[in-house]
Amino acid sequence: MSKASAPGRVNLIGEHTDYQGGFVMPAALPLRITVEIEPRADRRIVATSRGETLATDLDSGPTGTWIDHVIGPAKLLGLERGYDADLSSHIPMGAGLGSSGALGVAMVRALSDAFGLGIDDLAVARIAQRSENEFAGTPSGILDQMAASLARASEALLVDCRSLEFERIRVPQAFEIVVIDSGQRHEHRSGSYADRRRECEAAARMLGVAQLRDVPPGDLARVDALPEPLRRRAHHVVMENARVIQAAVALRTADVVAFGAFLDASHISLRDDFEVSTPEIDVLVDLVREQDGVHGARIQGGGFGGSIVAIADEGAGHHAAARAVADYVGRTGLAARTLIPPIAL
Ligand code: GLA
Repeated sequence: MSKASAPGRVNLIGEHTDYQGGFVMPAALPLRITVEIEPRADRRIVATSRGETLATDLDSGPTGTWIDHVIGPAKLLGLERGYDADLSSHIPMGAGLGSSGALGVAMVRALSDAFGLGIDDLAVARIAQRSENEFAGTPSGILDQMAASLARASEALLVDCRSLEFERIRVPQAFEIVVIDSGQRHEHRSGSYADRRRECEAAARMLGVAQLRDVPPGDLARVDALPEPLRRRAHHVVMENARVIQAAVALRTADVVAFGAFLDASHISLRDDFEVSTPEIDVLVDLVREQDGVHGARIQGGGFGGSIVAIADEGAGHHAAARAVADYVGRTGLAARTLIPPIAL
């Protein structure tokens, strides 16, 4: 039997930049998915998760269910034998915390171990992303898989999504990361995420660049000449890339006020230019933002619901999150909950 696990992620900054070759800066969450694999003699894949068992085989196509994430890596690796897989996860699904990416990474790791493939961490992330794109049919970038494969506790992972070069930056003691699940579920396959990707591709074509990564912030005049909504989409990506680099400086120099300002700017851009926020998420971000000791807050992940991230002074996050969540639940009726900092029992 082979066992492997991978964490969910919170993306500190760098949203909707990965599939345009840009920069992201996630951190690992203390919430993991664990996979146990037992190779079989035949070509069947039998997977169990949360009391539900699904089965398929290596010769079948996608089913549109969660087992696609379990079989996809095996198809990409060209495996000849099937396996039994047992999944257990503490990462909420549909909360924008990279649960599918973590499942893909844990699967590739477990298969690498079970079948003696010796796949390194970077290749694990690449294979998991290809499985997601090519088999499960979700057009995601590589943010979640890089985080699940390479991020470590108490560190931010600055990733160049074109070269996949990365740098680990320690999160200063004075920074408290807050993550709140809004209780509003998102669904990437349902189109809006793919629409944004296509809009970015169209903007890059009109600007004559391979990807929006290639447009420096000094070239915004060219971006401003694009037709709407491409102008707003490209404006977000170009400025967000610049913010990631600046936020990395703020992290290295332990400047929590500057770091928070970049989160705020990211949210405004995602809300107004990229249009991936929702009225409920905006309420939650505003409520958190107005609490004492909070320096910035934004929607994080793919958007259209999911979770928010905020940055607070050490020791202030708990209170701020509890107050904001209580107010938000009262106003929206949605079952929000604070994931980080965890509730001390
Ligand atoms: C989802 C995708 C990622 C990334 C984010 C937006 O989480 O899986 O690849 O594109 O949305 O930054």
